[in-house]
Amino acid sequence: MEATPVPALACCGERFSYENGYLKNQHFNYFCTHLFMTLEQEIQKRRTFGIISHPDAGKTTLTEKLLLFGGAIQKAGAVKSSKIKDHARSDWMEIEKQRGISVATSVMGFNYKDIKINLLDTPGHQDFAEDTYRTLTAVDSVIMVIDCVKGVEQQTEKLMEVCRMRSTPVICFINKLDREGRDPFELLDEIEEKLNIKVRPLSWPINMGKGFRGVYSLYEKSVHLFTPSKVTVEEGVEIKDIDSSQLDELVGESNARQLRHDVELIEGVYPEFNVDDYLEGKVAPVFFGSAVNNFGVKELLDTFIRIAPPPINRATTLRVVEPDEKKFSGFVFKIHANMDPKHRNRIAFLRICSGKFERGSNYFHVRQDKSIRFSNATAFMAQDRETIDEAWPGDIVGIFDTGNLKIGDTLTEGEKLIYTGIPSFSPEIFKEVQNLDAMKTKQLEKGLLQLMEEGVAQLFTYELGNKKVVGVVGALQFEVIQFRLKNEYSASVQFVSQNIYKACWISSKDPKKLDEFIASKQRHIARDKDGKLVFMAESKGWLQMVQENFPDIQFHFTSEFND
Ligand code: G4P
Repeated sequence: MEATPVPALACCGERFSYENGYLKNQHFNYFCTHLFMTLEQEIQKRRTFGIISHPDAGKTTLTEKLLLFGGAIQKAGAVKSSKIKDHARSDWMEIEKQRGISVATSVMGFNYKDIKINLLDTPGHQDFAEDTYRTLTAVDSVIMVIDCVKGVEQQTEKLMEVCRMRSTPVICFINKLDREGRDPFELLDEIEEKLNIKVRPLSWPINMGKGFRGVYSLYEKSVHLFTPSKVTVEEGVEIKDIDSSQLDELVGESNARQLRHDVELIEGVYPEFNVDDYLEGKVAPVFFGSAVNNFGVKELLDTFIRIAPPPINRATTLRVVEPDEKKFSGFVFKIHANMDPKHRNRIAFLRICSGKFERGSNYFHVRQDKSIRFSNATAFMAQDRETIDEAWPGDIVGIFDTGNLKIGDTLTEGEKLIYTGIPSFSPEIFKEVQNLDAMKTKQLEKGLLQLMEEGVAQLFTYELGNKKVVGVVGALQFEVIQFRLKNEYSASVQFVSQNIYKACWISSKDPKKLDEFIASKQRHIARDKDGKLVFMAESKGWLQMVQENFPDIQFHFTSEFND
């Protein structure tokens, strides 16, 4: 086939090479395939997901192995180097610095077996959990990593709550089988009990720790033998029949006997795996492996691309939007500040929900009720960012922004719908912010507003006396806010602890009752950043009492609710 002249362009984030002004043949073929790919095909080949875990369970290690399989990175260690580690508090500057670096790894796009995978990173540090909650609003499914020694930990429980609210499909990966961990049946029971989701093992470990010999795939009915390997991507030996004597030879008689016994038990206790139950968030398939040894990761990835959902439909204030609608729409789920204080540029992360996003087009900014031109959209591919011309449902686009966009904003081709399901959750620690420099009041207000728009923390302004209280998930954020206000806005503040247990968004079907409640609890009523009414409860016991005394008032722990 002759080289064919076409205008220079980049498509789907791929770079093209030219010879004498002509596209090289293989790139021409690629170009043709993509040019004629329909919206439906683009949707079907995408999987957008996040990996969540309690810190140290192995999220970063697993991410890295997945990227190795996708060919997105060439050597182990590349993701690790930009990881936010659990630093001591005095090291928070380092964390902020790494947050800057982590923009590049916020979204990692890679191709695996013709599937375009968008992996959304979530911060490892617990103090930034709210970032993780928001990222979960932009994914279609989740892989949850659990340490087989520690079992279900606190952070995992919280993250699972967010997944359950949205019925997000979850796959569990029980990690570190090369260590002496807990009994696998016990782990499964704990997942069901603590995470309130049914499980269905799809693979099963053959012994563990020093005696770990591999896993049996209950899905493919085959045995994968374990060969410790930190860097290479190897496949284990496969034997197809669990009853064959080859199994005894390979894993030892006692391991083989135990495996046959376990498998019989599993098949007796757990119902057949049903993909629809998984897609509805009712059942979590479970895999066992060792991420650092690259064991069980390929099986996980292969099953993931087979069963995980392509971009799904999403609720808005007006109607449910299907991804294959021709008109573009999407929402902002994350804002990342530029680390350079001289330039207030921010990157807004836009999840595309329907239609095709085209760079240079005008889109409708629903909150601001105006049209905006997006000429500098960026796609995320593994560790790089590059300018893109178009993006499809499931893709995440980075938009450089000087203050037009905030978390939760919807962009469309004109329809005035707003994506729902991106709520704020009640923070856990509350402190009053006090201005230490009256000359810089304006800067402080601007700084606070912008930091809140980035989602660094939540601001509650009391109705009485205009007191401003900042709520965060982790204490570290106060230091971050204080530093950034000083550094970027020249505003000095101090924080004063408040005796607050929860921020509860309040509503009532009866407006008169709501007014009465507000009047009687005036000192505890504040407004959130969107002006919504919030009751600042001082303690659990007190909140319960108030709830009993005011049965006509609804108390909500997230900012989005149905009355
Ligand atoms: P996180 O992102 O969830 O916080 O966890 P991360 O991947 O950083 O893993 C935490 C620690 O657990 C790391 O050790 C990592 O090497 C180790 N790890 C991950 N997967 C496995 C596994 O399958 N088996 C075993 N035994 N360990 C595993 P570290 O000492 O903190 O870091 P490093 O020095 O190994 O890099």
